[in-house]
Amino acid sequence: MVSPKNTGTLVAPEGAKHARILGVGGYRPERVVTNEEVCEFIDSSDQWIRERSGIITRRIANEQETVTFMAEAAARNAIENSGLELAQIDALLVATVTHPFQTPAAAPLIATNLGLNGIPAFDISAACAGYCYGISLANDMVRSGSARNVLVIGVEKLSDFTDKHDRGTAFIFADGAGAAIVGPSDTPGIGPTVWGSDGEQWATIQQRESWLDVRRSWTQESAQERTWPSIGMAGQSVFRWAVWGMAPVAQKALEAAGITADDLDAFIPHQANMRIIDAMIKQLKLPADIPVARDIAEQGNTSAASIPLATERMLREGEAPHGGLALQIGFGAGLAYAAQVVVLP
Ligand SMILES: CC(C)(COP(=O)(O)OP(=O)(O)OC[C@H]1O[C@@H](n2cnc3c(N)ncnc32)[C@H](O)[C@@H]1OP(=O)(O)O)[C@@H](O)C(=O)NCCC(=O)NCCS
Repeated sequence: MVSPKNTGTLVAPEGAKHARILGVGGYRPERVVTNEEVCEFIDSSDQWIRERSGIITRRIANEQETVTFMAEAAARNAIENSGLELAQIDALLVATVTHPFQTPAAAPLIATNLGLNGIPAFDISAACAGYCYGISLANDMVRSGSARNVLVIGVEKLSDFTDKHDRGTAFIFADGAGAAIVGPSDTPGIGPTVWGSDGEQWATIQQRESWLDVRRSWTQESAQERTWPSIGMAGQSVFRWAVWGMAPVAQKALEAAGITADDLDAFIPHQANMRIIDAMIKQLKLPADIPVARDIAEQGNTSAASIPLATERMLREGEAPHGGLALQIGFGAGLAYAAQVVVLP
């Protein structure tokens, strides 16, 4: 029999009582791509794309606008808007599924590029839910004492993993980066997160081939059989899941925060598809005067970047008030989802 040497004398970390978002920022690639340009590669039309997705244009990154480049730009913008000094950031979470390296994560490199070499930094792979997962983790880190100010970045270069000949995805996916700083607060600034995942629908939005399949294909004789692992999507299944499954999650997040839809100053859902946004508004019975993020029309679906980009825009354009309450919900591949009410910076 062995007995422990020491029991019950550890120092436990102590954090802030509450946390809130101190600032948000964004980076939009320079190049604007129209529906006509997308239709050069798929049998579709500007009218069909507008009607079925609400997308009019999207931003597509050039070669220099990499995941790490866009993330750094969005982060600098968020830090500036937060009023903090760079050196006050002591942890970095990067939500992305398009950093083109299996390992290492994008986060340590982004931290170093920002001049924050040494801080804890890691990636979150939760696709379109990644930013809301990150906000939840950052909230817990600040309140538990494992960090004081956490930089959360949502960044995607989906154009690298989209098949421009695929009618089901080519017009939807786009590129960009958004960021938020989460830090201590005297009052609650981030409500309880309602989150989850459904692995039974794992294949609904999926990288088409595993890296092992890709390696196998590259040993084929014929160049035609070589594959590139673009992201495929069962559009109708995702649509149904989002419309019927996500409004109840958003409703639960409101209830968990102790507010009703009438108390909201903004609704900022993942910018997946304008029809999904409209269906959620209806199901949530959202009062007509509450501003709703519709950044997708000009930005396309940027997965983990969509919510912080839309938030940054609503604040910058005066559509949502600083200090107001916003309901945000991210959902996508996994399938994974997360929703929470936040006080806008
Ligand atoms: C992708 C999406 C817009 C497709 O719309 P849809 O109405 O479900 O389209 P369907 O696949 O049922 O196809 C309907 C018709 O449009 C056609 N179609 C499909 N893609 C098309 C395109 N890009 N352009 C023109 N026609 C298209 C189909 O061939 C079909 O024609 P048919 O009726 O003659 O057979 C829709 O499913 C969607 O938005 N899904 C959710 C996607 C999403 O938001 N993903 C992000 C989650 S993070």
